Amino acid sequence: MAHIIDGKAISLQIKDELKEKVSALKQEGTGITLAVVQVGNDPASAVYVRNKKKGCEYIGIGSLSYELPQETTQQELIALIGQLNGREDVNGILVQLPLPEHIDEDAVIRAIDPKKDVDGFHPQSVGALSIGQPGFVSCTPAGVIQLLKRSGIEIAGKECVVLGRSNIVGKPMALLLLRENATVTIAHSKTRNLREVTSRADILITAIGRPKMITRDYVKEGAVVIDVGINRDENGKLCGDVDFQEVAPLCSAITPVPGGVGPMTIAMLLSNCLESVHLQPR
Ligand code: GUN
Repeated sequence: MAHIIDGKAISLQIKDELKEKVSALKQEGTGITLAVVQVGNDPASAVYVRNKKKGCEYIGIGSLSYELPQETTQQELIALIGQLNGREDVNGILVQLPLPEHIDEDAVIRAIDPKKDVDGFHPQSVGALSIGQPGFVSCTPAGVIQLLKRSGIEIAGKECVVLGRSNIVGKPMALLLLRENATVTIAHSKTRNLREVTSRADILITAIGRPKMITRDYVKEGAVVIDVGINRDENGKLCGDVDFQEVAPLCSAITPVPGGVGPMTIAMLLSNCLESVHLQPR
């Protein structure tokens, strides 16, 4: 039976490490504050935002909350970001996605000062990652790397297949694995012979948003499987992209959903908030 990677425990370990660093910074007189902006009242976004603020509280960093109405204009939102960019007491700015349809997400992300882009979504952050320069890294893929490292799983030289090519997960995931010296393949909905491709993976990372699509015939015996998907199954229960019951017995290690990658995203956001102190020389 596979080792089940406990994302909750690993994220707690990271948060406790961060808490100590925050406390040391406080003693030097440096406080950290994250501004969290939500537009509209999408219930899923509200839960994410609440958990992000709780995470800040747990490690001892401040959070400012901006809950703007659904009809907020793009200009108003960008004006708020401009103000937050200019505030010395704000280290990180997070605009919760998705935004209402009348707002251009790319324009909003570009308005955030890259030195405060704790989500790692700004083109400058993505560009820096692709050429190995310092900058913020998207939280979910950064969390996957931590899960692997803290579970003692070697990445260098491994065949890694990333299933999914989103800007938030698939693409930065592939770049991070490359940075760790893996051999990386990105597979997606147009990939031919998908089972053959995913079956080559020593480490298979799925981020496609298709409930339980990955069955045993997609997975090599002894592979490590990291499931980034958060979906609902036919009974409305949370599940990943991987059919856990079927695939787990085949793997050397696997993440569950929930309790695998999910809790890592917030831990890495908080880690980025701390990192912001180094990117913002005073
Ligand atoms: N919506 C879903 N995931 C995320 C995330 O990681 N950051 C932001 N800002 N919005 C999201």
